[in-house]
Amino acid sequence: MTGRRFSAPKEGEHASVRDSKHRSLAGRVALVTGSTRGIGAGIARAFAEHGVCVVVHGLPKHSREGKRMVAGIRSKGGEARLVLGDLAREAACRRLVTQTLEHFGRLDILVNNAGIFPRGDIENTTVRLWDRIFAVNLRAPFILAQEAVKAMKRRRSGCIINIGSVNAYIGLRRLVAYAASKGGLMTFSKNLANSLTRYRIRVNLINPGWVFTEGEDYVESVEEGRGKGWAKEVLKTRPFGRMLAPEDIARAALFFARNELVSGAVLDYEQMPVGTLPEP
Ligand SMILES: NC(=O)c1ccc[n+]([C@@H]2O[C@H](COP(=O)([O-])OP(=O)(O)OC[C@H]3O[C@@H](n4cnc5c(N)ncnc54)[C@H](OP(=O)(O)O)[C@@H]3O)[C@@H](O)[C@H]2O)c1
Repeated sequence: MTGRRFSAPKEGEHASVRDSKHRSLAGRVALVTGSTRGIGAGIARAFAEHGVCVVVHGLPKHSREGKRMVAGIRSKGGEARLVLGDLAREAACRRLVTQTLEHFGRLDILVNNAGIFPRGDIENTTVRLWDRIFAVNLRAPFILAQEAVKAMKRRRSGCIINIGSVNAYIGLRRLVAYAASKGGLMTFSKNLANSLTRYRIRVNLINPGWVFTEGEDYVESVEEGRGKGWAKEVLKTRPFGRMLAPEDIARAALFFARNELVSGAVLDYEQMPVGTLPEP
């Protein structure tokens, strides 16, 4: 015995130094689809606050809202740019990634957030509606991921975050196509996570529960015919006394965006376990 104290493996220390560097998001570039409002806007703002250069995206007919979002981010010292395009169109999906690369030179984080949730059950959902929902909610994330992977693969680094829904498991009766599209997105996320670890690209999914957003407000008050007071009624059923907000989901997106070593995860972001039955 020499009396020397064992001090060799400083692996933990090294790992923490390395990880804190990788977890910083400053200078990263994120494309967040459907970020002119709702959950996407919440994610875009949160990313920008953490130094991420954000590509804000929405439909061409809502360019005014998009410009307002970008101006809001810039007024707080963030970096943002607006791209427009209908995700129901293949070429528009591919163009979003090209425009991101043209402007910022790289793409580190893709958030497939945009989604539509028009009502329809098995008896009244037309094939046309089914196809539209699938085009925006499932086919677009596929095309965007396909384009993003080309750029991420070159850097051997990347992060894809898909925004699903707790409807993915069973779903509401009047959301038959929507639920199926989100179920598909969940399987797609896991399949992609498995294929892309070889390129060090992580893929994770957040399944939000009930979030108060502009889109949800419209659907509940107009399509469901519940009027303007619907949200107050809903509060009575919320275990923690409020509905989820886009900022809640944004925190989960930040978790996945930082270089946490997790891929293929599904985070059900809801106030109770999904699938619980009402107590008698
Ligand atoms: N709110 C909830 O309770 C809830 C729960 C679970 C999951 N989610 C999911 O979370 C995501 C966001 O929902 P949200 O409530 O924030 O919705 P929202 O308020 O309606 O916002 C949707 C966003 O997606 C964009 N978008 C819709 N269709 C598009 C298309 N064809 N091409 C391009 N952009 C399109 C919209 O752009 P424009 O403004 O230009 O139309 C908007 O920016 C969706 O995937 C949704 O399924 C929401």
